[in-house]
Amino acid sequence: MDYDVKDLNLAKQGRLRIEWAEKNMPVLRLIRARFTKEKPLRGVRVGCCLHVTTETANLMETLKAGGAELRLCASNPLSTQDDSAAALVTDTKIGVFAVRGEDNKTYYKHIASVLANNPQITIDDGADLVSALHGNGNGGAAAGVWAGLEETTTGVIRLRAMAQQGVLRFPVIAINDSQTKHMFDNRYGTGQSTVDGILRATNHLMAGSKVVICGYGWCGRGVASRARGMGAEVIVCEVEPIKALEALMDGFRVMPMAQAVREGDVFVTLTGNLGIIRQEHFLKMKDGAVIANSGHFNVEIDLDALDQMSSKRRLVRRDVEEYTLKDGKRIHILGEGRLINLAAAEGHPAMVMDMSFANQALGVEYIVKNRGKLPLGVHALPERIDREIARLKLKSMGVKIDTLTSAQKKYLAEWTMGT
Ligand code: ADE
Repeated sequence: MDYDVKDLNLAKQGRLRIEWAEKNMPVLRLIRARFTKEKPLRGVRVGCCLHVTTETANLMETLKAGGAELRLCASNPLSTQDDSAAALVTDTKIGVFAVRGEDNKTYYKHIASVLANNPQITIDDGADLVSALHGNGNGGAAAGVWAGLEETTTGVIRLRAMAQQGVLRFPVIAINDSQTKHMFDNRYGTGQSTVDGILRATNHLMAGSKVVICGYGWCGRGVASRARGMGAEVIVCEVEPIKALEALMDGFRVMPMAQAVREGDVFVTLTGNLGIIRQEHFLKMKDGAVIANSGHFNVEIDLDALDQMSSKRRLVRRDVEEYTLKDGKRIHILGEGRLINLAAAEGHPAMVMDMSFANQALGVEYIVKNRGKLPLGVHALPERIDREIARLKLKSMGVKIDTLTSAQKKYLAEWTMGT
């Protein structure tokens, strides 16, 4: 079996952590139990490019229980948990190609190793696998893919651009479009794990700090609300007027970046776009400003510009790089500007990844059942699957809810009954 991980001796520690996560993934456990019996994915080759974490390990083991043949590489060079990777190779016999801190060349070599197994289904977090499949020389391999699944907002945006330009060669299911994904993982997962990453890196006191949130999508909303919960004064910068208005009515101050940079102590980018914090912004920041990115790619902070403006650069704590500008002002960049929740913390908690990865597991089964029937393009999973995941999650949490009475159902279906 081919693989490339840091150290197989880490497998024992990885196993303990994978089991710890499993305790908080009851919906995925139920799916795994059914997959073990029914083997709905028997012999299907699934190529995965995901953050290699304890939660992802639980997804891999669920797909394997369903009979899938798997390969896995990292979806970010700095998000791999080497112990999880080792346990997947040693105990689960999955070909994992991921080493924390791998350089760009190795990152793409690992993607190529996953594609070398000719996947029939792809699972991506950020669309790097699908994008590589459509790149130079890989067109043939794309022809063998039944369909793909995409985990994250940035990946879905890239795939919709590919579909729009008419270059996407197979259907893709946007897992991020499921309500049980983006309303929970993006909001509460990113919300908590981003703050967790900033705190582990800096030990900063949130109470009384001015925290600037760049981008008020589901992830930005989550971080803003968690930072406020810890006593921070939160400022939101947003280009989209409806979202800016929402941030305002959610009780946050809203202003342009040019103004926010003068006030902020901590900055978090989560826009999915590039060049959010640039030279003109660094120049106006306070001494000691802390900057983290929680968007998918490390393009939101212009680190090249910061490097050029600086007379000195040093690592002052694990995951904290201090840049000293020519006037002596210091700016702190966390986790090399990569996803801070995975670079400096452990990513989203298992409790929320349970729903995201239940969507992925049921999505793979859905593709197998509907092989050849899905139209080209980017689609959401059917709503009945989304609702079922919510129902199972509530049940696992011991929460019961009401159901409509027959009179209420009738009332909702009726349009003549005004009173
Ligand atoms: N994305 C964010 N958090 C994650 C986690 N814990 N596992 C996999 N992907 C993630």
